Amino acid sequence: MNYRHAYHAGNFADVVKHAALVSVILHLKKKDKPLAVIDTHAGRGVYDTASAEAEKTSEAADGIGRLLAQSSVPGVLSPYLDIVRSFGEGRYPGSPLIAARMLRGSDRLVAIEFHPEEYELLKKQFTGFPQARALHGDGYRELPRLLPPRERRAVVLIDPPYEREDEFARGAEAVIAAHRRFANGIYILWYPAKMLPLVSATAGELLNAGIHSALRIDIDFGAKPAPRAEGRAPAMTATGLLLVNPPFGFADEMAAILPFLSSVLAQGLGASHRITALA
Ligand SMILES: C[S@@+](CC[C@H](N)C(=O)[O-])C[C@H]1O[C@@H](n2cnc3c(N)ncnc32)[C@H](O)[C@@H]1O
Repeated sequence: MNYRHAYHAGNFADVVKHAALVSVILHLKKKDKPLAVIDTHAGRGVYDTASAEAEKTSEAADGIGRLLAQSSVPGVLSPYLDIVRSFGEGRYPGSPLIAARMLRGSDRLVAIEFHPEEYELLKKQFTGFPQARALHGDGYRELPRLLPPRERRAVVLIDPPYEREDEFARGAEAVIAAHRRFANGIYILWYPAKMLPLVSATAGELLNAGIHSALRIDIDFGAKPAPRAEGRAPAMTATGLLLVNPPFGFADEMAAILPFLSSVLAQGLGASHRITALA
């Protein structure tokens, strides 16, 4: 297991994913009832955007860095940036810390991380967040044990590193299995560009599994693939999210920010985005 999110934290994919997560949590908070957030692949929680790792890739500079430099931003990007700024300059919060910062006293977060060092760092970040619990383990294995949540209102983020060839299939299977246990849950599955061809096939599997409310969001920043260095994968050019049970109004909220993100975070010509209902 080689993946370290410190090289990628705050990149364009994180921006899209985390803006979507903020939008969903804000939606759930409209009701007074408690909610749960389950983050199956949590990472260490907070990242230094001036670290050697971040500077090596400059992904944060081309992602959250560009966004923070804007004088105004539309829609849900505004509360998202408020949360990011609240962690201080040069620090970028990962999904578990974004969620922890948004929770009310009666809400709950369970964040699962497999890598022992990342888990230890994450646990420390939860000091001061009594509603948040870090679990050391395999997110796919732990998820079914956490469902259905006692709150009966929850969002589950599945954000794997895609080091394995079958990672998308595992993620999709996890969503289907979780939906069987807890059909009302909101599920967010993140995927990188290399998985795009599989998403359409997965839509059929979701329908067969009785999942009739799902949304697919694709965004391509028009990046020119960098020349392939020895032993390194080409730079990621596009990203996407699959959402099961998207909240009412979520698609409109994403439609309001994607054109702005495409233009501010564009890395080459031909940036594009698409929101598709998977019915
Ligand atoms: C893309 S990063 C997560 C980023 C985080 N969700 C965020 O948005 O800030 C993926 C993380 O999953 C961890 N990981 C890999 N396999 C895992 C597994 N089976 N269960 C839980 N965590 C895993 C990696 O160590 C890495 O920290």
